[in-house]
Amino acid sequence: MADKDDIKAGKNFAPDVPAKNDPFFLKGAGALDWGMQNRLARIFNPASGRTVMLAFDHGYFQGPTTGLERIDLNIRPLAPYADVLMCTRGALRTSIPAEVTKPVALRCSAGQSILTELSNEMIAVDIEDAIRLGACAMAAQVYIGAEYEHKSIANVTKLIDTGTRYGVPTLAVTGVGADMQRDERYFSLATRICAEIGAHYVKSYYFEPGFENVVAGCPVPIVIAGGKKLPERDALEMAYKACDQGAAGVDMGRNIFQSDSPIAMIQAVNAVVHENATVDNAFTLYEDLKADLLRQRAAE
Ligand code: R5P
Repeated sequence: MADKDDIKAGKNFAPDVPAKNDPFFLKGAGALDWGMQNRLARIFNPASGRTVMLAFDHGYFQGPTTGLERIDLNIRPLAPYADVLMCTRGALRTSIPAEVTKPVALRCSAGQSILTELSNEMIAVDIEDAIRLGACAMAAQVYIGAEYEHKSIANVTKLIDTGTRYGVPTLAVTGVGADMQRDERYFSLATRICAEIGAHYVKSYYFEPGFENVVAGCPVPIVIAGGKKLPERDALEMAYKACDQGAAGVDMGRNIFQSDSPIAMIQAVNAVVHENATVDNAFTLYEDLKADLLRQRAAE
């Protein structure tokens, strides 16, 4: 019931305290609308400015990748340790319960397979379905220098335009063709193009030397993909170096879900990304957690 009988003049206006207008914490995102910023603040932890995205969208072009044979069994237990789940709508609807409330970066492109030309993608999810699923970001590949470069840029541009209408950010993923050099020149070009067409953040790979120049030249945050499975210590070192040189975290798949102990590995990656843990400390954490989990399993 409306409080009509007790209307009093308000007293707590604090006229001496100016309203705050804090700058938004994320690189390149200061001029975005509230909904867009809010979704980005769910993807990137405002305390560290970084994110640990768990990528398990590989099946959209390469089928049941090792470690992703059963997303319900292998990935679901990792969700509590991830900041963001990056996946296809098929994986989400079939294998991740809706009670998992982690933000989702939705893979919105498809149209090729490992048997055909990778750059020949199309937009494969409508904005309505992305919103229906509560996506915090939409993602598609940009294949600079590849046969279908133009088409892939058009795909990401379409996501940016439709997402902007509804406040959903776009992650541009730099897809690297087999004959491309993974070096400063290539990633400077690719990441900068992604940012200039309006992507809100960009996924790249880590490489040496020159990664810090690529980050500096890209006016939106860069997160790194993990790439092929490495020994755990090497993967942690890669994440450490990338963050140390300006990356805003990781979007890591195989180096987590193909690890000997994925739950231990994702926690070690978290320590690097959010707590600046050294490689030695993060690797020790990985080994300790792995041993604990083995002991628990043996006791069951
Ligand atoms: C490619 O399939 C996707 O964009 C992956 O999400 C990306 O490559 C990250 O996964 P990974 O760390 O396994 O490279």
